[in-house]
Amino acid sequence: MSIPSNYILGIESSCDDTGASICKDGKIICNIVANQSIHKKYGGVVPELASRAHQQNIIPVVLESLELAGIGLDSLSAIAVTKGPGLMGALMVGTSFSKSLSLALNIPIIEVNHLQGHILSLFIEPPYPRFPFICLLVSGGHTLLVLVKDYFDMEILGRTTDDAAGEAFDKTAKILGLSYPGGIWIDRYAQKGNPKAFQFPEPRVPGLDYSFSGLKTAFLYFIENQVKVNPNFIQENLEDIAASIQYRIVHYLMKNLITASRNYGIREIALAGGVSANSGLRYSLEETAKKENWNTYMPAFQYCTDNAAMISITGYYKFIRGEFADQELVPQARMDF
Ligand code: KG4
Ligand code: ZN
Repeated sequence: MSIPSNYILGIESSCDDTGASICKDGKIICNIVANQSIHKKYGGVVPELASRAHQQNIIPVVLESLELAGIGLDSLSAIAVTKGPGLMGALMVGTSFSKSLSLALNIPIIEVNHLQGHILSLFIEPPYPRFPFICLLVSGGHTLLVLVKDYFDMEILGRTTDDAAGEAFDKTAKILGLSYPGGIWIDRYAQKGNPKAFQFPEPRVPGLDYSFSGLKTAFLYFIENQVKVNPNFIQENLEDIAASIQYRIVHYLMKNLITASRNYGIREIALAGGVSANSGLRYSLEETAKKENWNTYMPAFQYCTDNAAMISITGYYKFIRGEFADQELVPQARMDF
């Protein structure tokens, strides 16, 4: 007698992406994300608008994912949903929807920590990292160096004391007049620029922690001073400016990653989170790997930025452990592991 397949529906709504994904027996079979372009004109995520857009998008993305998977609601085994961290109103949409659906279908609900989800996105496609590994989790809201001992046994070794790496990209992009979120634009322009054209100071923080706010301020003053002398400075040097600031951010991220690897004697090294899509960071990881003898792992591009596949795969690993939440589940805006 064959064992019936399990289908986990993953729901993500922590920030400005509404996602639904279905994981069949540990394999992602569909991953739908509705991006919210509404925030572009405000230069950042407006929480109230994010909640409204999630409310509009959530049923369409779930229906689309079921259609793509070729299954009906009655095939679902459990619903995994992001509990936090994130915007409270945005999280409420995903959790309320998921709780109602689990009640209606009489199937379990599984709570997922968004940060663990980013890290477990490394288990969507092989090669998978071997435990223990060190993961640099870099996103718009978080910058963490994590010692991953097992699927749900993670220890934070270092974190940002102010802005996240993604914010450093987005804020410098905004100063350059690029649209939100600017990380991808810095990346694109940087590919044609000289990373040594302009020197920006490397932040100094003790231990394995990070700080990006001083770098952002130094960048702002540099641009303001240059524009006073030459009003066309940005337009004339955009590629070199982008390459230079990206070089500094990437170099700084890698510095602590190398230190952590040496301190802990771990050579299984991974990236995760939106900024792990950055081509400079991915290249630098591979170059460092050659020198430091690392095995490296990065999610495929579609699993770097916020998505529901990372939630459904995490849900799968909790499902097979029988780790279910109860119907009193409430979202949490701030949470570690
Ligand atoms: O993981 P994510 O989608 O959301 C959070 O959990 O915060 O990360 C979004 C962040 C944004 O700051 C965005 O600019 C950045 O990831 N990002 C990039 C790139 N693609 C996305 N930053 C640098 N280079 C990229 N290619
Ligand atoms: Zn995220």
